[in-house]
Parts: sequence; structure tokens; C-alpha cells
Amino acid sequence: MREATADALPLLEATVPGNHAQQLANAAAGRRSFLAAWCGEEPVGTVVLRWTGVLVEGHGAVPEIGSLEVVPARRGEGIGSLLVAAAEQRVRERGAAAAAIVVAEDNRDARRLYERLGYRDTGALRSLDGGTGLLLLRVLRG
Ligand SMILES: CC(C)(COP(=O)(O)OP(=O)(O)OC[C@H]1O[C@@H](n2cnc3c(N)ncnc32)[C@H](O)[C@@H]1OP(=O)(O)O)[C@@H](O)C(=O)NCCC(=O)NCCS
Repeated sequence: MREATADALPLLEATVPGNHAQQLANAAAGRRSFLAAWCGEEPVGTVVLRWTGVLVEGHGAVPEIGSLEVVPARRGEGIGSLLVAAAEQRVRERGAAAAAIVVAEDNRDARRLYERLGYRDTGALRSLDGGTGLLLLRVLRG
């Protein structure tokens, strides 16, 4: 699990769905962290941390974990869970007390995964690429 870099861009673009050039540009500007999971020389998944965050009632702006993607052939092996854990570790390192995720209501696989990882539905809705999503929150320290 490591920060994605420009030299990895062609390989990422060829294997993992997503607008990786845009994510890298945002990461270079410090607005985001862009992590990739590797199996040997092969990228198997990506996740993005948006440091500008999302507003959560009672918590202020909370760093947002998003754009989680695992290549279809490697789903169900725990890679998605590891990517979320790596993102949470960076949130802790920056001293933030919670992480948020916005998930499409109909994305049952992802919702089940986030629930298992300790994310709870706040009952609020937030905009999501192409629609509206449920705002989930995990408190990382009290
Ligand atoms: C959501 C996603 C990132 C999960 O990645 P993953 O590496 O499969 O995650 P894990 O292996 O850690 O856990 C997967 C969960 O899905 C289940 N699963 C098993 N096989 C699966 C498969 N082939 N496809 C999807 N989910 C599967 C697992 O059982 C597990 O849920 P459970 O433990 O509660 O039963 C991945 O399915 C994906 O890339 N989906 C498309 C993009 C997406 O929806 N991203 C989320 C946006 S908010």
C-alpha cells in the first residue's frame, strides 16, 4: 500500500477504473492523498482521501474517504478493507478524530463492507458524483 506517483499512472490507468490523473493532480496540490494497493508489480486497487472533508453535524469538516476501487478479479480478498484501513491510518496521523464516507444508497456491497469496518449511517445525505449518497461516519478516537 503506497502513495500513487506519476510514474505509476500509465499502469493505474490501464488496470484500475477511475480518473487517476485528476486524483494525482489533487494529491500534488495537497488537497488529497491518493493511495494504491499493489500485488507485486500489479496495481489491484485505489482509494482517495479528501482532506477538505465533508461537513458532519457535531463534527465539523471530517476527512472523507472515497473513490474506493478494487479490480474486479481481486474483489472479496480483503483488499478494499486494507485500503480503507490505510486511509484511516493517515487520518489518525493528521490528528483527525473521525473519517467519513459517502456511499450510493443502492451500493449494497460497499455499504455492507463499510458497516463491517465500523462506519455508521448519520442519516444525512451528501452529493456524490452522479447523484446523492448516504453520509457514513466512523469515530476513530473519543
Ligand atoms: C466495494 C469494493 C471496493 C470492495 O472491495 P473488496 O476488496 O472486495 O473488499 P473486501 O474484500 O475487503 O470486502 C468485500 C465485501 O464484499 C463481499 N464480496 C465478496 N466477493 C465479492 C465480489 N466478487 N465483489 C464484490 N464484493 C464481494 C465480501 O464478502 C465483503 O463483504 P462482507 O465481508 O461483509 O461479506 C469493491 O467491490 C469495488 O471496487 N466495487 C466497485 C466500486 C465501488 O462500489 N466502490 C465503493 C464506492 S463508495
